[in-house]
Amino acid sequence: MKKILVTSALPYANGSIHLGHLVEYIQTDIWVRAQRMSGHQVYYICADDTHGTPVMLRAEKENMSPDQLVSKVHAEHSADFNDFQVKFDNFYSTNSNENKLLSESIYKTLVSNNKIEKKEIEQFYDDQKNMFLPDRFIKGTCPKCKAEDQYGDSCEVCGATYSSTDLIKPFSVISGTEPIRKKTEHYFFKLSECEDFLTQWTQSGTLQKEAANKLKEWFKAGLADWDISRDAPYFGFEIPDAPGKFFYVWLDAPIGYMASFQNFCEKNNINFDEFWSKDSEAELVHFIGKDILYFHALFWPATLEFSNYRLPSKIFAHGFLTVNGEKMSKSRGTFITARSYLDTVKDPDLLRYYFFSKLNDSMEDLDLNLDDFISKINSDLVGKFINIPSRTSGFIKKYFDYNLMTKDQFTSDETKALLDVILSNVDEVKKYYHDREFSKLNRLIMNSIESVNEFINNKEPWVLAKQDNQDQPNSDLHEICSAALQSFRVISLYLSPVLPVLTHKISAFFDEEFTHFDQIHISVKKINQYEHMLKRVEKDFVDQMIELNTVKD
Ligand code: 2FM
Ligand code: ZN
Repeated sequence: MKKILVTSALPYANGSIHLGHLVEYIQTDIWVRAQRMSGHQVYYICADDTHGTPVMLRAEKENMSPDQLVSKVHAEHSADFNDFQVKFDNFYSTNSNENKLLSESIYKTLVSNNKIEKKEIEQFYDDQKNMFLPDRFIKGTCPKCKAEDQYGDSCEVCGATYSSTDLIKPFSVISGTEPIRKKTEHYFFKLSECEDFLTQWTQSGTLQKEAANKLKEWFKAGLADWDISRDAPYFGFEIPDAPGKFFYVWLDAPIGYMASFQNFCEKNNINFDEFWSKDSEAELVHFIGKDILYFHALFWPATLEFSNYRLPSKIFAHGFLTVNGEKMSKSRGTFITARSYLDTVKDPDLLRYYFFSKLNDSMEDLDLNLDDFISKINSDLVGKFINIPSRTSGFIKKYFDYNLMTKDQFTSDETKALLDVILSNVDEVKKYYHDREFSKLNRLIMNSIESVNEFINNKEPWVLAKQDNQDQPNSDLHEICSAALQSFRVISLYLSPVLPVLTHKISAFFDEEFTHFDQIHISVKKINQYEHMLKRVEKDFVDQMIELNTVKD
């Protein structure tokens, strides 16, 4: 049994969860559930990422304090995750005492390890708003690829990161005016001194190949020291012994993984050090989007290494979500919030299944094609998967008083083989889950589902039932329907990390709970009354969802 601490990226506390976010949370949640079903001890940790200027300015706009905004958003995010069956062990906040103490102590260790340097820099200042402008509040032309309208920290077109003063034709996003340059003292993490360590670490198998290659490009460009401070006014933690200076949000955000876990440990009497000390034997796995690779593969390991903590075991980066082949867009209504999906389409399993059927271990983008979504759900889940019990359980009820034949009672080679092939897939199922090869796994599982349906079609239990002599139940009919339902149960166990709502109903139908893949090796003896378990997706609901998200200009 492995001990694994898993994180998904911490969502910003200044906006709603949307389907783009959910690609990551659903991918991680499926992975976590599958590792647990494989017998590992897994803790799944997350938190809201609360600090920084966007939260401060949005709170101001909404006439509340940043703390009030953070609590309001935390409640919304918690409900969204819960309703999508994304079950964190702890969903905390970076604006916590644990995070403050950990950030301060890590910073102090970095200082004592001579990794922090004070430098005077020139920064953009908004003369109308009387504040230094953080990178995200300055826009201009990318100094590398010359793309227009890019933020002050990185370019969305070419991926370059740079200092905001390098932008061509900068302007303040807050007032629209051209910012002035002003001198200020900032604190830098000497990343340039970590190059040897990072070169070695990033090529050590912790990252996907494509990610490691991306990093090689960044090393070629040279690692610049990292500015970890911001001037007041700033919503965040004040830097020890530096009045008016605050930790940049990206310093305390990943420390939020530790802080959320620490909070969880305190509540549950778990040993924090067993997971975070240098000699920890537990695994630490981060799921992230490819846009924040720089932070997780460079800043974060360097921070951990030079503050004497353990390093991540794996960083799994995924691509972005497109909808109908294009970038999500508010005017097209494809910037779809989690809540609008829950209000219209409703069933979280359907989106979970769709993402599952398309995800793999790469950083490629994933497309949600809405017509394909409707047809895939209706064909795979309603037409094929749930069709198995809906056309066999009635006979078991009517002629056999809900009793199933178990595998050892099967007499025909064909029935035995049907179930044996499905059972023999278990190691492949576990491996595909573990390797995040979800679309390949889905193909394997769909093949099994199709084989069961084909078996039912060939055996025509309805014909046997007609011939049935009511006094003496037909044993072929019993065996055929039992084999189909025992197979259905095994497949349901395989799919349970993906479809928690549906497979919960299925497990109740078999009068048990699905907790471990090993359960496939027993056969159940009885079923309960079959109630309809899954509805078709109607196009109307999908249209309503798009309508809810369409912002008219
Ligand atoms: O990119 C984002 O949405 C960040 N809020 C992710 C932070 S992840 C972690 F490092 F805190
Ligand atoms: Zn660029």
